[in-house]
Amino acid sequence: MAKKTVADIDVRDKKVLMRCDFNVPLDEGSNITSDDRIVKALPTIKHILDAGGALILMSHLGRPSGQRNDKLSLAPVAKRLSQLLGRQVIFADDCIGDEVRARAESLNAGDVMLLENLRFHKAETIKDKAAKGDTQLREAKDNFAAELAGLADVYVDDAFGTAHRDNASMYTVPMMMQGKPKVIGFLIEKELKFLGDTVTNPAKPFVAILGGAKVSDKIGVIENLIDKVDRILIGGAMAYTFFKADGRDVGNSLCEDGFLDNAVELGKQAADHGCEILLPVDTVVAKEFKPGTENKVVTGDIESPWQGMDIGPETCKLFADKLEGAKTIVWNGPMGVFEMPPFDKGTKAVAQAVAEATERGARSVIGGGDSAAALKNMGLGDKVSHISTGGGASLKFLEGKKFVCLEILDEK
Ligand code: 3PG
Ligand code: MG
Repeated sequence: MAKKTVADIDVRDKKVLMRCDFNVPLDEGSNITSDDRIVKALPTIKHILDAGGALILMSHLGRPSGQRNDKLSLAPVAKRLSQLLGRQVIFADDCIGDEVRARAESLNAGDVMLLENLRFHKAETIKDKAAKGDTQLREAKDNFAAELAGLADVYVDDAFGTAHRDNASMYTVPMMMQGKPKVIGFLIEKELKFLGDTVTNPAKPFVAILGGAKVSDKIGVIENLIDKVDRILIGGAMAYTFFKADGRDVGNSLCEDGFLDNAVELGKQAADHGCEILLPVDTVVAKEFKPGTENKVVTGDIESPWQGMDIGPETCKLFADKLEGAKTIVWNGPMGVFEMPPFDKGTKAVAQAVAEATERGARSVIGGGDSAAALKNMGLGDKVSHISTGGGASLKFLEGKKFVCLEILDEK
């Protein structure tokens, strides 16, 4: 059943507590280097304000491990949000406590307040499993959540990037707001639609492109997609684990020796389901892991001291060919060390091929993180169907995992 959204409820003169994922990248001077996650929360924020709600926003930023850390303050987010909304965003310098409660109570319809980083409190990230067997942890998590839950009449979750976590603000807070509306925002609605439809109802041919350093991160995704996709194109360092499992020399390349059996097993599963797994046919190798260093293209074994850095030119062509007639594309993970030119060529070639396939009518969904960054850097961000705001969350979704924090929210 579909989840109720903020459009299905009345927020007039209500205090609305909304969990966002404002975990945005910051530079050394705490300047926001991409405001994408803030911009993508705007439709829900504006809807609530226009509908006469008083809005209390909460988020985490980074991993401060329960300690106040000025470098991870949400103050720059409050400032950016004020600019984007064209109205003042009140910034509370904590997320719980008497002062926050008093300020929340005094909010009027159309007011917006952003709470300070939830993860300045250890209780936010206590895992529910740990809390189950430990009274002290349970109490700490519950007390923290109760303070947040007590601030509002309505709970809205629009933090897709954090949807795979059972953080207090994502799970315990809505659990404590029984009898009050608990709904999703428009960003989560859109993410569920794109990622959900893509996996459950894909137009064929369906091609998955998987990259990144580790096979271990992607085993669940491959297993879940193997009976749904027609082919999987594999790049990035995870390809070297497949090479080695196939008996090839990988030299000094990154390789997960503990996962060779998994690679063999995935190959067998793919064959059973008629899913074609394509590995790189050539590899750009270097002796050192640094930008612009001496490099060459090899087709067979990679010999020490060389290490794989990117897919080669023939693989770029092969992958582009295999994307040519695709009707559905899912892409997660770079093809090489894309932040270190010239080892960004493979990722760029794939980004271009995905954009072109989209232009020819394919639906393309890009998992967040590095592949999203590569597309945006190339100015191709609007040439694909959907770029997820979730890195880890979109992977978990593609693994077919259920998100407990969404399951507990109201159904239509
Ligand atoms: C992310 O960027 O992955 C989300 O904001 C979740 O953050 P986390 O991985 O630190 O829980
Ligand atoms: Mg993460």
